[in-house]
Amino acid sequence: MAVDPAFDEAASVLIDRGIDGPIECALVLGTGLGSIVDDVQDAVTIPYADIPGFPHGEVSGHARQLCYGTLFDRKVLIYQGRAHYYEGGDSAVMRVPLGLLTAFGSPPLILTNAAGSLSPSMGPGSLALITDHINLNGPNPLVGDRGDGRFVPMVDAYDPLLRGRLKRAAANAIVPLGEGVYMWFSGPSFETPAEIRMAKTLGADLVGMSTVPEVILARRYDLRVAGLSIVTNMGAGLHGGAPHHGETRDVAAVASRSLRRLLRAFLSEL
Ligand code: HPA
Repeated sequence: MAVDPAFDEAASVLIDRGIDGPIECALVLGTGLGSIVDDVQDAVTIPYADIPGFPHGEVSGHARQLCYGTLFDRKVLIYQGRAHYYEGGDSAVMRVPLGLLTAFGSPPLILTNAAGSLSPSMGPGSLALITDHINLNGPNPLVGDRGDGRFVPMVDAYDPLLRGRLKRAAANAIVPLGEGVYMWFSGPSFETPAEIRMAKTLGADLVGMSTVPEVILARRYDLRVAGLSIVTNMGAGLHGGAPHHGETRDVAAVASRSLRRLLRAFLSEL
């Protein structure tokens, strides 16, 4: 696989700031989930603005910095907030943050997000493991990429080994964990009730505005990746669901306690 010089350039900033040790797990924290970093010991934080190739801008609920340190006895690199396609129309906006992991031994990557649920068995506040996705939105972050490596297989894109470990960790930590197919809508407007009915018909269980391009990028760079959704609401029109960003942020912040327990169990068994 061709290594991109942009990854080395970004990695060298991390190394200069003291991130020179191993990374045992990388995490991307979605909306409202930033408080997980409060548990990180010996934290080194770097604003995205200081790292070449990293996204700029902000969404409320996203701190836009990375944090390296020890979380539950494991060395982790945490991205506190992602950039989304809807911010500038670039589906590859997370290319450098994810690609640079190849310069640090390609640790397992856990992507988290806030999502709407289409399933009554996964209500607001619950956690769900993503089993597969539907790129309804269309854009693919590998458009313009070169060589045969761009033809990335997407069977088992959500790594079965990591999924198994996350399920075991959830059982051990007594955290209920649903699972389902995630459908990517561009946002930033939420879906209409008709779109939610369509998503259900097409086989989705969860809807959201992120993660899918990141999984495609992660697989391009041969990273093992898993996705965890924090259900913040029922999809628009379901059971009176009328999602809005304040609800997403607030419910995710509360549910981050379950995510913390799950991550603790997961990391301790890594
Ligand atoms: N739709 C899309 N994205 C979301 C939702 C939703 O209902 N909830 C949280 N993020």
